Amino acid sequence: MILLRSLILSASVAVLAVLSNAAPAPSVFDNIEPTIDTQHESFLAETTAPGLESNPGNPVTLTDACGVLAITEPRNLKYRHVIDCYNSIPFDSAQAATSLATVLTIFQDYYVFTDSALARTAPTPFVNATQNIVGELEKIGRGKYTSDYKFHNDILTAITGLGDGHAAYSIRVYKDEGQRGSEDCIVETINGQAALSYLRTYAKNIFGLSHDTNARLNFMLASQTYNTDTGHYIDSPGMFSERSTVPEGPHLEYRLKCPNLKETVELREEWIIFPTHEIAFTDAASYVENVCIAPPEPIAPPAEGGVVRRRDGPIHRITKRAGPETSPPPTGPQFLGADVLVTGNASVFYHLKDQPNTGVLVCHTFMPSDPEAEKDVILDGLTAFHAKNVTNILFDFQGNTGGSIDLSAFLVQMLFPNKHPLDAAFPSDIRITEPLQELARLSFDTEGISYFSARDFINLANGTSTYENNELFDKPTTLTRNGRSSLWTEKTSLNIPPVASKYMTAAASFPWTAKAENIRILTDGRCGSACGMASYFWTTIHNVSAYAVGGTRGEDLSMFSFAGASVLQLDQLQSFYKAANITSPLTDLAYKNTITFSWLEMYGKNRTTPLEYDAELYRPKHRLDFTPENARSREVLWKEVAAAAWK
Ligand SMILES: *[C@@H]1O[C@H](CO)[C@@H](O)[C@H](O)[C@H]1NC(C)=O
Ligand SMILES: *[C@@H]1O[C@H](CO)[C@@H](O)[C@H](O)[C@H]1NC(C)=O
Ligand SMILES: *[C@@H]1O[C@H](CO)[C@@H](O)[C@H](O)[C@H]1NC(C)=O
Ligand SMILES: *[C@@H]1O[C@H](CO)[C@@H](O)[C@H](O)[C@H]1NC(C)=O
Ligand SMILES: *[C@@H]1O[C@H](CO)[C@@H](O)[C@H](O)[C@H]1NC(C)=O
Ligand SMILES: *[C@@H]1O[C@H](CO)[C@@H](O)[C@H](O)[C@H]1NC(C)=O
Ligand SMILES: *[C@@H]1O[C@H](CO)[C@@H](O)[C@H](O)[C@H]1NC(C)=O
Repeated sequence: MILLRSLILSASVAVLAVLSNAAPAPSVFDNIEPTIDTQHESFLAETTAPGLESNPGNPVTLTDACGVLAITEPRNLKYRHVIDCYNSIPFDSAQAATSLATVLTIFQDYYVFTDSALARTAPTPFVNATQNIVGELEKIGRGKYTSDYKFHNDILTAITGLGDGHAAYSIRVYKDEGQRGSEDCIVETINGQAALSYLRTYAKNIFGLSHDTNARLNFMLASQTYNTDTGHYIDSPGMFSERSTVPEGPHLEYRLKCPNLKETVELREEWIIFPTHEIAFTDAASYVENVCIAPPEPIAPPAEGGVVRRRDGPIHRITKRAGPETSPPPTGPQFLGADVLVTGNASVFYHLKDQPNTGVLVCHTFMPSDPEAEKDVILDGLTAFHAKNVTNILFDFQGNTGGSIDLSAFLVQMLFPNKHPLDAAFPSDIRITEPLQELARLSFDTEGISYFSARDFINLANGTSTYENNELFDKPTTLTRNGRSSLWTEKTSLNIPPVASKYMTAAASFPWTAKAENIRILTDGRCGSACGMASYFWTTIHNVSAYAVGGTRGEDLSMFSFAGASVLQLDQLQSFYKAANITSPLTDLAYKNTITFSWLEMYGKNRTTPLEYDAELYRPKHRLDFTPENARSREVLWKEVAAAAWK
């Protein structure tokens, strides 16, 4: 899994980053749900359009498409304003050649999954899809382009595009903000195609978040998201209906079949455009200058301990929308049957009233502002559960796309304390090239230059301590995967600090500690990165059962997505080379693009396939389907799982 952050955004979308599909103002259509039959539901949605201030006035060339975009009132912005501006940006072949060379080098020499992605088949729940990223990029290099936008869009597609399997869906309306009463209507077609096949194609061409079609569906469709500001779950439209890249056309057409109507309903929903930042421009040239070519941003020095421990959320995360709130923030408790005991910035502890021996630990992210403070929240929450005589704990991981590996390893150990110091560590390796070895040598001698210092990694062949020489990088081995040979380090591990004794002492007193039968996981597959790592430990190593909800009825669904890698941004890598006084083999990109790529891959214990591609480890023990009730209320879903788990 790689994340390419805002390549297309800055080449094209950055000023008007969020496009949302909705009806013409003032009424706004919202949210549609897919279902294979009356019992199966997943959800997708559309969203509202706030009024926004217009661009600051500037002299504008009216014949220039970007000039028109600049002077158009946000509320009058149409799809064509955006696409016309993007299409008018001329293709610069020298700049494109540089960008492509850099992207190609990253995927040839640095990205850890280039070889694994060449696999032709995969066990369920993954789909069979060969992704030859180097070949795709080389093909782009041979292409003839006239449009800058098309060029960058093709790179994005090559990177996020994964093959897809077969799946069958129909869709339903989850929520209609236009208040036209379309809730629970079945969506028969989208843009004249069977709704199922339309979504399938969309997932295939646009989605790179998971190797599993059904997990991708859950990312695409509407869901409920915990809002840390209000402490309530709110409806999220999903990535099909809220986009940060230009949609396939100016509007979506839906044909609905509603339960109480004989006639079908036809809706034509225009995309609504939300400017997310204001940057002044007057024409295509100043658009490129001010939006695409940004001033260099300061790069953070290596994190303490030298190793990046987080894998950021997916590229598709939508920034907070500008504009007024449509409804006042809710107050008071959201659920009548679940008391909130403790709330942190990453976790919330609910106590089920009519199943008082059950506590629900919602962990909606592993990226709180202060992971250390969150550890105390977790201790407080578990202590509160204990005080209420809770014996069973349900983890709700839906929508947790990861964050701090430390925090995730901490949570694993709070439930299953390590017996051995490396129990919560993943065997890992790193792809090696000569320029990287040079960087590693200097990093070994001088502290704080880069993440590539052997001193920060565990020497697995030598007990539990870190390397005291540079053999990790200096003595690589050749691995051939799917016909492609590369140099790799031997197996090592990130150096995750032990959990402080105050936490372990408390954990030893809890009745559920190290008891798989008292713990369950609830996931919709949108549990990424560090969340996937925690899920792996609990399910594979500690035998905890998981319930995976959504996807397609009767089909498998991954418990988690894009697990098992640590990521780096191109800018960070460049700053490492700079700190070491070595010329980087990579040229900086001309545009304000960030390429984020996996540089360290992890494996399940005793496994030979990297965790990212080890499909067998993604299968849950139990499957659940969304219903109109449980999709709209977490409380209903929690009670369903608790009843099934602890009869
Ligand atoms: C993937 O390929 C294997 C081997 O050809 C096959 O058994 C399996 O059914 C395929 N899976 C899918 C989802 O098509
Ligand atoms: C949660 O975030 C708020 C706002 O950023 C901060 O004031 C508070 O200290 C944080 N709490 C924890 C436990 O990190
Ligand atoms: C927990 O159980 C103990 C022992 O049975 C009992 O005394 C106590 O009242 C219970 N606490 C709550 C909050 O139910
Ligand atoms: C292995 O560990 C011991 C101490 O535990 C240390 O003295 C030795 O240098 C280490 N060897 C390597 C190659 O890191
Ligand atoms: C794992 O859990 C299942 C119940 O889900 C139980 O039947 C099985 O015995 C457990 N296996 C081990 C090795 O504890
Ligand atoms: C890089 O060069 C600067 C300036 O000459 C120097 O201060 C620094 O120590 C050098 N860094 C390394 C790792 O050699
Ligand atoms: C891995 O292999 C070792 C040695 O055979 C064994 O002791 C250990 O239990 C295995 N771990 C897992 C998770 O299979």
